[in-house]
Amino acid sequence: MRSERAGAPIALFLTALALPGMAVGIHAANHQDPEWDVPSRAARKKNPLPEDASVIAKGKVVYEAQCVSCHGTSGVGDGVAAKDLEKHPGDLTNPKVQDQSDGALFWKITTGRAPMTAFGDTLSVEERWQVVRFIRTFAASPFAVVSPELEAPESLRTPLTNLQRPYDQLRRALAKDDQKAAAAALPTLNSAVEGLKKVDVTKLSDKLGSSWKQSVDAIEKAMVGIRKAPSLEEMRVSFAGLSAASEAAWARYGHTMESPLFVFECSSATKTGAARWVQPTREPDNPYLGSKAVSCVKLLRGIAATRPKEEGSGESR
Ligand code: HEC
Repeated sequence: MRSERAGAPIALFLTALALPGMAVGIHAANHQDPEWDVPSRAARKKNPLPEDASVIAKGKVVYEAQCVSCHGTSGVGDGVAAKDLEKHPGDLTNPKVQDQSDGALFWKITTGRAPMTAFGDTLSVEERWQVVRFIRTFAASPFAVVSPELEAPESLRTPLTNLQRPYDQLRRALAKDDQKAAAAALPTLNSAVEGLKKVDVTKLSDKLGSSWKQSVDAIEKAMVGIRKAPSLEEMRVSFAGLSAASEAAWARYGHTMESPLFVFECSSATKTGAARWVQPTREPDNPYLGSKAVSCVKLLRGIAATRPKEEGSGESR
């Protein structure tokens, strides 16, 4: 019956008529339709669950089990299965999605639309509201993306960009409590810091030169602590210093990464209190307490990539 091309659309159509309440009917009927209208009563429904860390954490578990394969860890639609779908999953971080009500998202998750299945059949009502809470964490929270404070030449921005990758390697190792991986990140991190030290300051203006020297000294100072840290705990303390110094340098001179760098703070990172870190993605991955510790985390700001020659000098905040 469903041999090939010719008969298939009719067969699907008939299936849709025969089983109006089922997911397959919704899929077949709406497949080509770009609008995905939500009944207004459904859209007005309020999320019965509070917006707190434990609900969000449960929603994350649901998301990682059921949604991540298509929508990706940060919600942008880059999951492993996404490229084989006939339709892109879209970008859940986009205001077009985030501006929809909780009720509307809940309804879409419940009813589905091909190739996304109707989760009304497989997830409980509570799980669906939880995952809606989690999806909200993809929204660009109200943080400012700052541009570099100084107009720095390529000779400063390039070595600073080179610092980012090994820094991030170490950050991820700490987030995973992986001492071996942390040690493995050190050689590249060391050579990136060497690259910073090698910059010829005589070619810079006095002001830029002395400010650069201060930045590099601060980074090197933190590196001394990291190199001789006897444990992951000790390393984290120095990593907080490295993060602060590197963040300040990226914000001052800029970088040439594709996308902004995101600056996070965890209020209970260390015994003495809050510490920050910088990462290239918007979903926090906490180097001090691991990714489970969502509740202490706040996104503070983004640091824009420098687009040479476009805007005038750094407008901040
Ligand atoms: C098989 C891949 C796949 C899986 C798994 C999947 N989705 Fe989707 N999702 C899609 C596709 C494709 C779309 C776009 C559908 C359309 O516009 O017709 C979509 C759309 C959505 C939308 C609507 C976005 C908009 O533009 O309004 C939401 C919300 C959503 N998905 C949430 C989820 C949640 C939550 C889960 C897990 C419980 C999930 N999805 C699982 C593929 C998937």
